[in-house]
Order: sequence, then structure tokens, then C-alpha cells
Amino acid sequence: MSLKIAVMPGDGIGIEIVAEAVKVLNHYKDSGRLDIELEEAPVGGAGYDAAGKPLPDETLALARASDSILFGAIGGPQYDGLARELRPERGLLALRSELELFANLRPAILYPQLAEASSLKPEVVSGLDIMIVRELTGGIYFGEPRGIKTDDSGERIGFNTLVYKESEIDRISRVAFDIAMKRGKRLCSVDKANVLEVSELWREVVTKNSAEYPDVELSHMYVDNAAMQLVKWPKQFDVMVTKNMFGDILSDAAAMLTGSIGMLPSASLDANSKGMYEPIHGSAPDIAGKGVANPLATILSVAMMLRYSLDRADLADEIDAAVGKVLDTGLRTADIMAAGCKEVGTVEMGEAVLAQL
Ligand code: IPM
Ligand code: MG
Repeated sequence: MSLKIAVMPGDGIGIEIVAEAVKVLNHYKDSGRLDIELEEAPVGGAGYDAAGKPLPDETLALARASDSILFGAIGGPQYDGLARELRPERGLLALRSELELFANLRPAILYPQLAEASSLKPEVVSGLDIMIVRELTGGIYFGEPRGIKTDDSGERIGFNTLVYKESEIDRISRVAFDIAMKRGKRLCSVDKANVLEVSELWREVVTKNSAEYPDVELSHMYVDNAAMQLVKWPKQFDVMVTKNMFGDILSDAAAMLTGSIGMLPSASLDANSKGMYEPIHGSAPDIAGKGVANPLATILSVAMMLRYSLDRADLADEIDAAVGKVLDTGLRTADIMAAGCKEVGTVEMGEAVLAQL
């Protein structure tokens, strides 16, 4: 039976970049090397436009029925005025939460060809290969109570709740230890245990689990220091594991070490390795529709899908290699453009990867 892949381009540049990634999937389908069925559904602002909410029922049903989801990006200025529960971001958050995609893997890898694109010195970033494991369905993003209320004196108060159950810390830390075992066997758990009780519990549970992974060297770091160390000497890190919001922030910082957020894929996995795959970057309304967005993060997200959910590391390796070769030829989208290279648009970049495949 063929595998079902839900395709959710979303908004803004999501539409253009997902189109290129779909070409890669179809390339394998058409050549008979991958038995897949693709089905597209609207999400985010597109979901609101189509069905009045950012995660239409049919889109959620498709997500549940699929083996994997390829996701583009969501959001745009035209949706900024909507009520909070109708905003595009809510569609993404609801998908993560409804499907229990608690483990978010965000690799920050520097392609040697792009060392010049980083704002840091080449010797600081060359060879960089970090995996950030971000908890994705808990913490302050989802904690209750939340809201904006008016107190007795008439002043408005905004509030959110940072909460983690032991079981949530347990499962995300195990994912991180397992990944560390397959990599450099070093895990840094990032928290704020000097201030937050949640972090105290986080540290305790992670430390307890480390007994089951004697080969992994575990360290702990406060999040403010981790942000500093990422910029100072990022190569000290192998795998990092952290809460939802810390991971959101640190993964953007780590992404930029590699020169462009336009290069980085991500995977969001449930307990059975069913996953949603998406570029780390957003919908970039400022360049949407112009055909200049970098499709490589989305194409590399397809590679992650093949590796982590579809058990096709062979094809994933091919895609990773093809992207490297395209960079070798000197083709660059605007975000990674450098002297002596040739600037190309979204479609040209996608076609170049296909040509290598
Ligand atoms: C991300 C994004 C999302 C998040 C937004 C779009 C809700 O920044 O995936 O990192 O905060 O998780
Ligand atoms: Mg983010």
C-alpha cells in the first residue's frame, strides 16, 4: 500500500518552496522508487480563507490519516487583525498538539560552501553540526491558564503558564539521549533552573534518565548562557535539549550561525515517529510571490521525512548530497548569495536539485 503524504503549503513563500519540494517527492514517485500518494490541504491563513479557521477539520483529518506531513509556512500581514484563535499560527500549534508531535528536531549544519554567508568568522562556524531537540507540545505555549484579564483596579493583565509534567520531560529527554547516541554522544540540557521550579524538575528528570545512557556525556546550561555560548563557540555543542520556548529562540540563533535560516529543515515527531516536516523559517511575506525564496530548507525537510518517518535513509542521503552538489556549482538564492556565485530564483534552485538527482 502506498504511503500517504499530506502537503500543506500554507501561506506566503510556503506555496513556492513546497512546490519545489513536491517535485523532489514526485521525482521518486515517478521513477518508481517511492510508493506515495500526495494530497494537499490548506492551513494557516489559507485555512482561514478556505474554511474560516486556521486548521480546517478536513485538514486535520488528512493529517491524522497521513503517514507524514510536508508543511510550508504560515502567516501574513492580512491575518494580523484576526482574533487570536483564528490567527494562522494557531493552525500550526493545533496540528502539533492534536498529533502529539512533541519532539522537534532542528539541525543547524553549516554547509562548507556557505561558511562565508555566516555573520560569524569562518573558524567559529566551519564544520558546525548541532542538533537542537525542542519540546513542542508543552510548556508556556500550551499551559493553562492563559489570557488577558482586567483586575479589580481596572488594569489589564496578560498571563501564560509555564508547566511541564514529569512524563513530558521524560519522553523528550529520551528522544534527545537516543539522538545523542547516534551522534557525538554529548547532550546539553538547557534550562533556567536558577530561577524556575519547572526547570528544577526538568533538570532532575533529565539527570535521572542519564543513568540509562552511560555513554552520553550530559551537561546542563542556563538558557541565557546557552544563547551566549552559541554565538561565542557553537562547536562545543552536539545535541541540545530544551523546553518549547527556549528551543524556539535558540534554534533561530543556531540557524543564523549557518548563514541563512533558508537552509534549515526540521522534523516534528510523535511517539511512533510519525512526523511533520517543515523549514525552520517563516512565511516571509516581504518576498512572497516574487520567486526568490530559498527552497532548500523545504527540500531538506523532505530528506528528513525520508530518514525519520519513511525509513528511506538511502533517498535522504541522495537529496542531502544533491543539495551539496548544487551549492558546489555556485548557484545561490538571494539569502545565501556571495561574491563569485550565480544568483537564482526559487524554481531554478529547485530544478538544479532535481537535475542532480
Ligand atoms: C517556529 C515558529 C512558531 C513557533 C510560530 C510560527 C508559532 O516560530 O516553528 O519556530 O513559535 O513555534
Ligand atoms: Mg520560531
